[in-house]
Amino acid sequence: MVMCLWLVVIGSFNACKISAEFQRFEQPTKGDGTLRFLVVGDWGRKGDYNQSQVAFQMGRIGEELDIDFVVSTGDNFYDNGLKGENDPNFLDSFTNIYTAKSLQKQWFSVLGNHDYRGDAVAQLSPFLRKIDTRWLCLRSFLVNAEIAEFFFVDTTPFVNDYFTNPEDHKYDWRGVSPVNTYTVNLLKDLEKALKESRATWKIVVGHHAIRSVSHHGDTQELVHRLLPILRANKVDLYMNGHDHCLERISDDISPIQFLTSGAGSKAWRGDVNTTNDQGLKFFYDGQGFMSVQLTLSEVETVFYDVFGRVLHRWTMSKQHLLSAM
Ligand SMILES: *[C@@H]1O[C@H](CO)[C@@H](O)[C@H](O)[C@H]1NC(C)=O
Ligand SMILES: *[C@@H]1O[C@H](CO)[C@@H](O)[C@H](O)[C@H]1NC(C)=O
Repeated sequence: MVMCLWLVVIGSFNACKISAEFQRFEQPTKGDGTLRFLVVGDWGRKGDYNQSQVAFQMGRIGEELDIDFVVSTGDNFYDNGLKGENDPNFLDSFTNIYTAKSLQKQWFSVLGNHDYRGDAVAQLSPFLRKIDTRWLCLRSFLVNAEIAEFFFVDTTPFVNDYFTNPEDHKYDWRGVSPVNTYTVNLLKDLEKALKESRATWKIVVGHHAIRSVSHHGDTQELVHRLLPILRANKVDLYMNGHDHCLERISDDISPIQFLTSGAGSKAWRGDVNTTNDQGLKFFYDGQGFMSVQLTLSEVETVFYDVFGRVLHRWTMSKQHLLSAM
């Protein structure tokens, strides 16, 4: 703390922020100890590209499952994030779209690369939480939900291309530079938090895919820098958006499942690259979302399309996972 104040005084506020440990939040589970939530990504288009239809089905399934919260895997607002705290896009793409009763729960969100193309800091602002109390978006943070712990990771700064080849995009790197210090510290904090975690389920959420057979493919920087930490610390699930599809890929040397839920609005890219389809269990190139149900001993993940129809269901018991190793 003293260190932080000193840094602020010498005008290097960012250095203080980037060395800060992840902020922690508590999310109580239901009386029965189970946890249910929805995961959606790449959504904010004022209802267009079937965003409203996906939102409607999320409301229906959310009601059926009696969900505890929603996870957003980033690219919250298109095309270029929010312009500022007062950008009406926040209401047009979030508040006035996810109106179902069951979705009036906490939303935990990370930033995507499109969010960094606007005023990224605005999305983190407590001011937005006053406009809509469901909203909680931070760069990296922890959510302790008793049987599960969630590690939300800011993946955009890991991707070299955004720095070396930004094309005509402008990124808002305030609070993130120098980027190497930022990512090194982030991984250190993540590793420490994972090691300290006593939760039965460890779930990591980021915007970019570690593994994907869709448009963007694997994110090499995450394969090299993030994945080894997840494997070494018994992470169960990695959830992301970025590729506008739904997919499940099993890791080849650990029980980690790579779950892409980035189909909250515009999809139908039609580009699949199966050169590296090792571990691919499910792929859907259209709009939809995902639900997750956790008990102490079991996880169930279900993918739904724009009509709320079940596309794929995957269940795994923790005991089985452990003994299979
Ligand atoms: C909306 O979803 C339907 C059904 O999957 C699809 O046929 C249609 O192309 C989608 N519309 C847009 C704009 O993506
Ligand atoms: C498909 O993916 C492989 C890596 O898995 C990559 O080398 C190749 O360039 C990709 N092809 C296209 C057309 O993007």
